[in-house]
Amino acid sequence: MDEDAQPRVGRLAVTGYAALQVLLFPVVVVVFVLCVVSAVLVVVWVGIPLLVAVLPAARALAGTERALASRVLGAPLSPPYLPLPPGALAGLRARAADPATWRDLLWMLWAMTLGFAISLVVLVLMLAVVTLPIWWYGAVPLMRLRSAVDRAVLCTGRTERLERRVDALTRSRATVVDHSAAELRRIERDLHDGPQARMAAVALGLGLADDLFEDDPDAARRLVQEARSTSSSALQELRGVVRGIHPPVLADRGLGGAVSALALDMAIPVEVSVGVPDRLPPPVESAVYFAVAECLANVGKHARASQAWVTLQYADGVLRGEVGDDGRGGARPGSGSGLSGIAARLAAFDGTMEVSSPAGGPTVVRWEVPCGSSSPRTTRS
Ligand SMILES: Nc1ncnc2c1ncn2[C@@H]1O[C@H](COP(=O)(O)OP(=O)(O)OP(=O)(O)O)[C@@H](O)[C@H]1O
Ligand SMILES: [Mg+2]
Repeated sequence: MDEDAQPRVGRLAVTGYAALQVLLFPVVVVVFVLCVVSAVLVVVWVGIPLLVAVLPAARALAGTERALASRVLGAPLSPPYLPLPPGALAGLRARAADPATWRDLLWMLWAMTLGFAISLVVLVLMLAVVTLPIWWYGAVPLMRLRSAVDRAVLCTGRTERLERRVDALTRSRATVVDHSAAELRRIERDLHDGPQARMAAVALGLGLADDLFEDDPDAARRLVQEARSTSSSALQELRGVVRGIHPPVLADRGLGGAVSALALDMAIPVEVSVGVPDRLPPPVESAVYFAVAECLANVGKHARASQAWVTLQYADGVLRGEVGDDGRGGARPGSGSGLSGIAARLAAFDGTMEVSSPAGGPTVVRWEVPCGSSSPRTTRS
């Protein structure tokens, strides 16, 4: 449903929402006052812990209001906040720099004044017999008005959404360019140090053999044999390089089969549940395959787990994946190159990754990649 669609919403329902907003009024006042007092007290430091505690409460209130407004307007309202870094102080700095935090404060001003007045009027109109007709015709439009203002203040507008999207795309493009350049350098090095060096040796050996054929045919023959075995090693190395670009198991068995093969190689039992189309875009398949491979390698290296699981599901143009284990937890993206490499690979396709790994476990790495499929059929394994 689009944002401006006007669904049928009952008078009693909107009056219930109005009553909730009236009940929340004192909470909004307290949180607003605490926000202002804490902001003032920041100059003497006491305000910092106060703000760390009170800003999440402001977000929770704004979230409740978004849920109410989305019911009245009949369209989901998504939270506009930027992601928070770990750590209380870093989180506080990020909240302070996020325009959505300031809009929460602006919304509280509205919710304590005109917004509150609208909800109170809707509620009071229903309570007296003489005003019932006004309530009958006015309750829904009034609450729609209030919810529309709530939406305008509490959600990102079209321009802001587009600006964020451009930022995200600029960042992911830079990542892709870096990643592709690094990948090209790796392939260049692999070819240079492996097959290229061997083929040079083959050419040299054959040249020497050519000179020797007249005077010492036995030595020439030995040189040709050596060149032959060197060329077959070169071929093998070339296969290795190609395999690093697009694993052949993907071409042979598809994503489901390739992931099951990875799971079978693990020392602990790994439950695999795959529901994906027969063919996804090859670069996405490849990125997801490497993501599963890296997560399972991490389980083997770091987790001390007794079991693990892999889930891949494709629905509505989005491939969702998860690798989890019941190990000791403590996975930190950024402390090695594996997890951050997965995030960078997936970002190239507008994908996102999140890691949940509290001390003591379990560790779950989840990702989502938007992608089209070339076949609607799904396989299970
Ligand atoms: N499943 C897991 N369980 C427990 N700890 C984990 C798990 N996965 C990762 N970690 C921790 O998170 C860190 C980061 O993982 P990451 O894969 O990014 O790097 P790495 O495995 O150490 O090195 P690389 O992948 O670059 O070879 C690891 O060093 C490890 O301490
Ligand atoms: Mg790793």
